[in-house]
Amino acid sequence: MEKPEVKRLLINYKTLEEFQNFREYGAPELSMKEDLQANIIENDSESPFYGIYYGNKLVARMSLYRVKGKFDQYFEPPQDYLELFKLEVLEAYQNKGYGKALVDFAKSFNLPIKTNARQRSDEFWNKMDFESVTYQPMRDRGENPYVWYPEGVKEQVLSQEQR
Ligand code: COA
Repeated sequence: MEKPEVKRLLINYKTLEEFQNFREYGAPELSMKEDLQANIIENDSESPFYGIYYGNKLVARMSLYRVKGKFDQYFEPPQDYLELFKLEVLEAYQNKGYGKALVDFAKSFNLPIKTNARQRSDEFWNKMDFESVTYQPMRDRGENPYVWYPEGVKEQVLSQEQR
């Protein structure tokens, strides 16, 4: 199978309309729409989302934020890392390698990655070579963090106060 092409998504009405096909549609999408309507952001400005199109249809997406090293509580040595949110493949397009293609794209920045695994997706993340971290209630607040370590990076051990 040909390798799916991952594209940076632009913020415009077409993209916002496509987002409505995804189950996880909420505050970030709505605020994008409001910002667009109020001209706070320009049409076709870059969004934090990346996606895969099948023809003209957006069938898979994720968002990626780069977190500054000074806020890093997950990796040793502490460094800039990527926070991966909202990975979702439309149901009819699942199990065709699109989820993996997005995760591989995120890995290609060669920064550590942190995500919050949804219920019952642990098996998928294990397959993607992500690992769960030692749960720290103060830091993780009920999330189910999974991380990917590039070469030379390991889990950060938090001090007693940080847990
Ligand atoms: N549980 C276990 N393994 C899974 C899986 C799941 N839910 N979904 C896919 N896999 C496996 C595939 O079998 C494949 O394995 P292989 O390489 O040995 O063949 C590998 O993971 C890659 O699969 P891929 O085709 O890239 O998965 P996908 O495109 O369907 O994307 C999800 C995976 C989970 C992102 C997608 O199914 C989805 O959006 N599901 C609904 C939302 C969700 O659960 N999101 C979880 C992320 S927070």
